[in-house]
Amino acid sequence: DVAALEVAWSLDSTSSELLRRKDHSAGAHVLLAERQTGGRGRRGRPWASPLAANLYLSVARRFDAGLARLGGLSLVAGVAVVEALHALGFAQARLKWPNDVVVADDGRLRKLGGILVEGGGEHAGPARAVVGIGLNVRMPAQAGAGIDQPWLDLQALAHPPPRSMLAAGVLARLLPALVRFDREGLAPFLAQYAAHDVLAGQSVQVHSGDGLHDGIALGLAADGALRVRLGQGERCFHAGEVSLRRT
Ligand code: BTN
Repeated sequence: DVAALEVAWSLDSTSSELLRRKDHSAGAHVLLAERQTGGRGRRGRPWASPLAANLYLSVARRFDAGLARLGGLSLVAGVAVVEALHALGFAQARLKWPNDVVVADDGRLRKLGGILVEGGGEHAGPARAVVGIGLNVRMPAQAGAGIDQPWLDLQALAHPPPRSMLAAGVLARLLPALVRFDREGLAPFLAQYAAHDVLAGQSVQVHSGDGLHDGIALGLAADGALRVRLGQGERCFHAGEVSLRRT
């Protein structure tokens, strides 16, 4: 299924580069870079991408089923990343909805990596999407000092494997998962996601378009939304920022 595997020395962003290419082949196009000069996170945040330090990887692929909800794709990618980390001995890695790879540290979540899905669209029919994955492996102090949220690198947990092994572990799970997601949707991944969900059962605060909501996270809805118990009721969030509430 892999049409191309490329490793670049330096790019603005592996995701931006794949989005610029008008590639319509059926297989996946995998692009890694040793550094990014304009690495991007969600919500327009910069993504620290110093040379030869971490993993910066994007995969472009056509989804024949169309992507009614890109959100499901980032959840599937998250499962692939966390399972690769567990297989390499980093059993503390968890998923924080919608797209963070985190480690819980004394009630605080520190970000180990993130996933950014772009392209596609909200309509049915074939769509091309780019899944970007950033994973902190050995963040140099200077680059780390500029990060404006709690973060962590693999090095802080254990001796990290070579980045090529991390990339291989992620891709070995991600590429077949993308094929399956295209055919079967999110359903086959819900149980795996639940096994790595750091929020389920926790007191959370959701910052959504219509304000702040305090409740208990209940896991994923079938479409990938976050279920939260609010007072007597339950609500599904399709977008928003979530934090753990200290109780
Ligand atoms: C986030 O958590 O905000 C998402 C971070 C995604 C970072 C990766 S690194 C490879 C790819 N290229 C980018 O510019 N961003 C993604």
